[in-house]
Amino acid sequence: SNPLGEVVDITELSKITQANNILLAVDNAILSPALQNPIKLGADVVIHSATKYIDGQGRCLAGAVLGSEAIIEQISAFTRATGPSLSAFNAWIVLKGLDTLSLRMKAHSDNALKLAVWLQTQDQVEKVHYLGLESHPNHTLASTQQSGFGGIVSFEVKGGREAAFKVINATEILSITANLGDTKTTITHPASTTHGRLTDNEKQQANITEGLIRISVGLEDIGDVINDISKGL
Ligand SMILES: Cc1ncc(COP(=O)(O)O)c(C=O)c1O
Repeated sequence: SNPLGEVVDITELSKITQANNILLAVDNAILSPALQNPIKLGADVVIHSATKYIDGQGRCLAGAVLGSEAIIEQISAFTRATGPSLSAFNAWIVLKGLDTLSLRMKAHSDNALKLAVWLQTQDQVEKVHYLGLESHPNHTLASTQQSGFGGIVSFEVKGGREAAFKVINATEILSITANLGDTKTTITHPASTTHGRLTDNEKQQANITEGLIRISVGLEDIGDVINDISKGL
């Protein structure tokens, strides 16, 4: 899940959906095909926002839907009739993104782990959520179905919204945006942006606290990113 990295057991879920004649669709945007292959784990349909890691360089909007021929035939009919298809130029950009996807996902994951480990040592940080940390409740499950932990790190600062805004506003090289999956590191306050439409009760149930900050860790030198985040802590 975005932004806390909660993971479900796709193989177990697929046993339930198959037994009940239900299609299982997985949004794989956060991991990309370089780190997780849901169809091999039993999913019927995989959806990617290719705007995220597959392009990965903030150059175009794109998406992909994968599945059996029978399923994709129905989706092709829909896209042909309604028009949400990619231009030839953007399709080329996405293909160029695929050339470096595996290398980039490894680098995003390595940088994210370094950031998460550093955040754990900070007095102002109450909690760090990163699947690559053994302390994450889904670390073991993620290790079995993914080949890496990806680039999304979230952490909670002491002092709620005010303290979170202080960290976000003090950054100089990070981009303050709700986008993710770019070579450039981005920083977001989920409670007021991506999850801003939830009620307080729904936020509480989803563990979206006011002090929560999400980082989509990019490919910069991680020392520069750490230095930027440390300014407001
Ligand atoms: C996990 C995930 N899936 C899908 C989307 C939607 O992407 P798009 O706007 O390219 O359809 C987002 C956007 O943030 C996302 O984080």
